[in-house]
Amino acid sequence: MSEVNHYVDYRREGGIAFLSMCHAPVNTLSYELRCAIDHYLDVAEQDQEVKALVLRSELSAFSAGADISEFGTEKSFAEPSLPALCDRIDRFPKWVIAEVAGYALGGGLELALAADKRIATRGSKLGLPEVNLGILPGAGGTQRLPRLIAPSLAARMMCDGKPISSEQALDLGLVNALLASSEHSEAAIHQLLKECEAGTPDNMFEQDYSLSREEETALLEYQAQQARRWTGLKSPQAIIEAVQRGMKSSLEDALALERKLFNDCAASPQARALQHAFFAEKDALKVPGINRDDARLAIQEVAIIGSGLMGCGIAINFLLAGIPTRLLDVNSEALEKARAYIQKTIESGRDKGRISAQICEQAMAALSTASDYEDIANADLVIEAVFEDLTVKQSVFKELNRHCKAEAILASNTSTLDLNAIADVCARPENVIGLHFFSPANIMKLLEVVRTERTSEPVLATCLKLAKKINKVAVTVGVCYGFVGNRMVAPYSREAFRMVLEGASPSQVDSALREFGMAMGPIEMADMAGIDVGCMAALANQHEWQGEESYQALQFALREQGRLGQKTSAGVYRYDGGKKQEDPEVLALAKEIAQSQGIEQRNISKEEIIQRCIFSLANEGFRILEEGIALRSGDIDVIYLNGYGFPRWRGGPMQYADETGLQNVLQGLENLQKNLGAYGERWFAAAPLLKELAQANRSAKSFSNV
Ligand code: CAA
Repeated sequence: MSEVNHYVDYRREGGIAFLSMCHAPVNTLSYELRCAIDHYLDVAEQDQEVKALVLRSELSAFSAGADISEFGTEKSFAEPSLPALCDRIDRFPKWVIAEVAGYALGGGLELALAADKRIATRGSKLGLPEVNLGILPGAGGTQRLPRLIAPSLAARMMCDGKPISSEQALDLGLVNALLASSEHSEAAIHQLLKECEAGTPDNMFEQDYSLSREEETALLEYQAQQARRWTGLKSPQAIIEAVQRGMKSSLEDALALERKLFNDCAASPQARALQHAFFAEKDALKVPGINRDDARLAIQEVAIIGSGLMGCGIAINFLLAGIPTRLLDVNSEALEKARAYIQKTIESGRDKGRISAQICEQAMAALSTASDYEDIANADLVIEAVFEDLTVKQSVFKELNRHCKAEAILASNTSTLDLNAIADVCARPENVIGLHFFSPANIMKLLEVVRTERTSEPVLATCLKLAKKINKVAVTVGVCYGFVGNRMVAPYSREAFRMVLEGASPSQVDSALREFGMAMGPIEMADMAGIDVGCMAALANQHEWQGEESYQALQFALREQGRLGQKTSAGVYRYDGGKKQEDPEVLALAKEIAQSQGIEQRNISKEEIIQRCIFSLANEGFRILEEGIALRSGDIDVIYLNGYGFPRWRGGPMQYADETGLQNVLQGLENLQKNLGAYGERWFAAAPLLKELAQANRSAKSFSNV
């Protein structure tokens, strides 16, 4: 007997019922799938012939868990709810075996945890990643996992949010058997059922559990170790509480506790922000008219022009993905140094266990060097990473135009220059695109994909597909000075430096923004990037600030003194013995500049620092959105989360503005405009789009250029 509805395939073979989920692409446990599972549980329960039920998937994933897009909607609570379904499986009067192949995440794993036994194919991934969404496993996961494996390990797995392999799951006792592939499942199922024959199906509700003193100590030690990393985060603390208190209660009470903690977390701004980040990253890949699956150009060989740190970092991405990569530089000594650097970096990844010895070996074998453009004639993709100067870049593109094959994609890693002017020197501007990597390019996840007016669709589609292959988070943007990320950073850092002239100390500014959640403060970031680099960017952006004396005056003065940042052991801060310290000389210099410019120094509050920096950031985001440089506010957020250390739990600057309320952001900007005199008048005018949306009581998210 076999029955299929859109979500589930059900069949019985002898005494075993097979319930296979088939809700493409990843079996999210939507209301419809839950109903279908519940229905076939009824069928299996009533069928006297059925002795055991196997829950499995028709797709390559077992299940990606609850349908996140249902969160906050009626469907999410509609019965059968996910917790109710898990409880039903736990109490099911016949044996239930979960057969996991592919991903079993969140609610997907919780279904499996409620089964009596679990088998998994090699290479499957099992995890409870809810913490990444600002919530905790809410369908029994916080209680059933620690009742199956050591509670302290269960808590780690939930607080880390990283899935484990089926091999690790077997070692932990989370699965009962490992299969070479799903084709071998029948024998394993029969074997398990044979072992079960003597007993009755497990029902966790009727068993006693406790939390040993050793386990409780291990749990609390882990919590203490993570205290810094979890600062401000709700859900990891809630997970620890759920395990610690839940393990001392009956499963019934423990599940009620889990529900309460889940509801608290789910209603928090953090949960909204993290869920926004999840979907924003998926949406960023959706560019109207572009289908990544139609990417027609095969990238079998990559060439990188320029063997500096950026060129090397970019090359490492492709090498690790197994794509033959040629580094071109006219300076053979620089090439040798680059090769040694790449080798050291890749080998250190191997030594730290991040990549296997085999990948390390393959990556080094895929690296080659060249000093002549003729040697890269066969490259499918060329990425220029030379000095940030339009004339230099144009001369490289003239060479590329002359030597590269007709269909090659010609990319520039420029972070600020006019890509249209670069494309102008090529006879095939439709092949020109910006691939803006962020330093260190082998580590930072962000890739701004810059499309000129003439970039062709297949070229863009190919680059988006490639981004996934090299494990980058890609966002498509249009051409303007600094694109999205660096254009927005200009007002953010302008405010940081201006406030130092107005009397805040650099460490006060940095601490306020770190406390807000930024990975680094703007001033320490400027020291790290190089004060000279900041000055160069300011000079290139002169049209924006002409006539505004304070704009980066401090940075120019420091540059004059040779204080170029970390690299010279002194910038805004001093770095004696590598340790960052506030420098009274810089405070005095700031005071001097302030006096010469008639800027009155005063006490500046933490709130003012945050408002001026973050509201300026978001305000520029609204201009970018209005100009169509970014397709959606979520794209801007993805850029800030992955390239600029914006706290993920705040969702990005635009989500922060939405959460604050656009009317409040507008009011804040208007107050600053009024209270900061001529400076405020000049720099705090709200973007027209922000005004329009705030007045219409709309959110940034509701606006789209798609
Ligand atoms: N809810 C809603 N949509 C989801 C989803 C989920 N849990 N998981 C994946 N999707 C969607 C994606 O948004 C994507 O949609 P589009 O094609 O429209 O962009 C599609 O499914 C395919 O996903 P990916 O492109 O991400 O596919 P992948 O193969 O690269 O990755 C994956 C697959 C590892 C499962 C990844 O999608 C993922 O990590 N998903 C989230 C898993 C998760 O966090 N689960 C926990 C949910 S919360 C929960 O279960 C709570 C509870 O206890 C009650």
